[in-house]
Amino acid sequence: MVRSPRFHLLYLSNGNHLFICFPISLPNDDFQGILAFLVILGFVSSKFACSNAKGTGTKFNVLDYGAAGDGKTESSQAFLKAWNGACTAARRHAGVIIPENNTFLVNPVIFEGPCKPKRINFEIHGTIVAPNSPSLWNGRDASQWLAFHAVTGLNIGGSGKIDGRGKGWWDQSCRYHPDLKGCTKLAPTALKIISCNESSLSNIQFTDSPQTHVLIMYCTGLKVDNLMIQSPGTSPNTDGIHIQSSHTLKITNTKIGTGDDCVSIGDHISKLDIANIECGPGHGISIGSLGRGGSFVQVENIRVRNSSFNGTTNGARIKTWQVGKGYVRKILFENLEFHAVQNPLIIDQNYCHARGACKELRTGVQVSQVIYKRLFGTSTTGVAINLNCSRSVPCSEISMQSIKLTSARAGRRVTANCSNAHGTESGVAPGPCLPRLDE
Ligand SMILES: *[C@@H]1O[C@H](CO)[C@@H](O)[C@H](O)[C@H]1NC(C)=O
Ligand SMILES: *[C@@H]1O[C@H](CO)[C@@H](O)[C@H](O)[C@H]1NC(C)=O
Ligand SMILES: *[C@@H]1O[C@H](CO)[C@@H](O)[C@H](O)[C@H]1NC(C)=O
Ligand SMILES: *[C@@H]1O[C@H](CO)[C@@H](O)[C@H](O)[C@H]1NC(C)=O
Ligand SMILES: *[C@@H]1O[C@H](CO)[C@@H](O)[C@H](O)[C@H]1NC(C)=O
Ligand SMILES: *[C@@H]1O[C@H](CO)[C@@H](O)[C@H](O)[C@H]1NC(C)=O
Repeated sequence: MVRSPRFHLLYLSNGNHLFICFPISLPNDDFQGILAFLVILGFVSSKFACSNAKGTGTKFNVLDYGAAGDGKTESSQAFLKAWNGACTAARRHAGVIIPENNTFLVNPVIFEGPCKPKRINFEIHGTIVAPNSPSLWNGRDASQWLAFHAVTGLNIGGSGKIDGRGKGWWDQSCRYHPDLKGCTKLAPTALKIISCNESSLSNIQFTDSPQTHVLIMYCTGLKVDNLMIQSPGTSPNTDGIHIQSSHTLKITNTKIGTGDDCVSIGDHISKLDIANIECGPGHGISIGSLGRGGSFVQVENIRVRNSSFNGTTNGARIKTWQVGKGYVRKILFENLEFHAVQNPLIIDQNYCHARGACKELRTGVQVSQVIYKRLFGTSTTGVAINLNCSRSVPCSEISMQSIKLTSARAGRRVTANCSNAHGTESGVAPGPCLPRLDE
C-alpha cells in the first residue's frame, strides 16, 4: 500500500521561498518528481523546514530567515523569526537550528515563551558571537545578551559555541579598573535562562562572557550537562554558572575555568546535584554569598560530588553575610580533589565586601547539616580547613570524614581552624578541628 504523501505547508515568506514539510523517507517516485518540478520552478527553497518521519516535529533553520553565517552581518532578527516559528508551531516538538560551519553575529535578544510545542530544541551547531564592543549596548539592558524567558521543555544543545567576546567589557570593568572614568559594574551575562520548567542545557562551549557565562533563575527540573566554559582567570566577575531561586537541578560532566566562581549558588535553591565538574582557574564552587542586604535565605539539599579543583582560590565554599536571615542546610561535599587550592574547605559566615569592614552583628544565616566526606589534595595557604562561623549563629551538625589535605609547598604544614562550628569528625587531617560540644 502506498501512503499518500502528507504535505504540510508551514511558511510562505515574502514570495521567494515556499517551505514544505514532508516525511524524510519520500513515499514514492511521483512525490519526488513533483518535488523536483517545484524546485525547478523555483517555488521550493532547497532549505526546507522539515518535519520528522512521524510528522510530530518541525525545524526552523536560522539561515532560512535571513541569518548570515559570515560572523559579520547582524542576525538577531533572523534568530527571532526562527524562534517565533518554532515557538508558535502547532506541533508537539519544534526546533531552531543554528547550522554548523557558520558564525552568527547576534545582538542582545530575548527568546520569549510560553510556546505551543511541549518541547523546543534550540540546536546550536555553529558559533554565535556577541557584538565586539560594549557601545552596542548603549540604551539597552547591559545585563544580558542571549536570554530565554518562560519556556517549558526547552532543550538547548548542539555541539556549537557561544562566544561572548567580553574583552571590551573586562577592560572597562570597575572591579579591576576602579579609577577608570565611566568604568562599568554591570556587563552582559552570555546566556540567561529565566523561568523554565523541565529543560536542559548541554554540549555547548562557552567562552569569554562579558560577565557571568550562564545564569539560571526561576527554573524547575533543569539538567545541565557536558558544557565547557572558558575565559581567562583574570577576567572580572565571569562566573561559570550562577543559579538562583530554582529547584531540582543537575549540573554534570562540565569543565569550567574562568575569573570567578565555577558554580555559584544564590539565595533560594533546593535539590541541586553537582557532579563531575573540573573547576579551575576560578574561585571554586560557592554556596553564596547568601543573605546580602538582609535577605531571607532558603538553601538546602545541595550535593557537590566527584569533582576536582585545580589552582582555584576556593574549593568547597559557603559564604554568608551577617545581615542575612534564614538557613543553609543539608549540604554534602563528597569525593573532591584539590590541586593547589588556596582555601580547599571554607565557611565564611562573616562575609563582607572588604575583610574586617563589617562590624559584628547578632544576626546571620544558620548553617547546619554540612557533610564533608572523602576530600583529598593540597592547599597553597597554611589554613587548609577554615570554618569561620559566627558567634551569634554558630554552624551546627557539621560532619567531617576521611579528609586529607597537605601543603602544596614541599616541607610546609597546614592547619585546620574551626570557630563556632560544632559537629563530629573522624579521619581528618589536618585536625582535629571541630571543638567538642562539652568544651
Ligand atoms: C562542515 O565542515 C566540515 C569540515 O570542513 C565538513 O566535513 C562538513 O561536511 C561541513 N558540514 C556542513 C553541513 O557543511
Ligand atoms: C512551571 O511550572 C509551574 C508549576 O507548575 C508554573 O506555575 C509555571 O508557570 C511554569 N513555568 C513555565 C515557564 O512554564
Ligand atoms: C562518584 O564516583 C563514585 C566512584 O567512582 C561512583 O560510584 C558514583 O556513582 C559517582 N557519583 C556521581 C554522582 O557521579
Ligand atoms: C592543573 O592546571 C595546570 C595549569 O593549567 C596544569 O598544568 C596541570 O596539569 C593541572 N593539574 C591537574 C592535576 O589537572
Ligand atoms: C574569620 O572572619 C573574621 C571576620 O571577617 C576575620 O577577621 C578572620 O580573619 C577570619 N578568620 C580566618 C581564620 O579566616
Ligand atoms: C583561627 O580563627 C580565629 C577566628 O577567626 C582567629 O582569631 C585565629 O587567629 C585563627 N587561628 C589560626 C591558627 O589561624
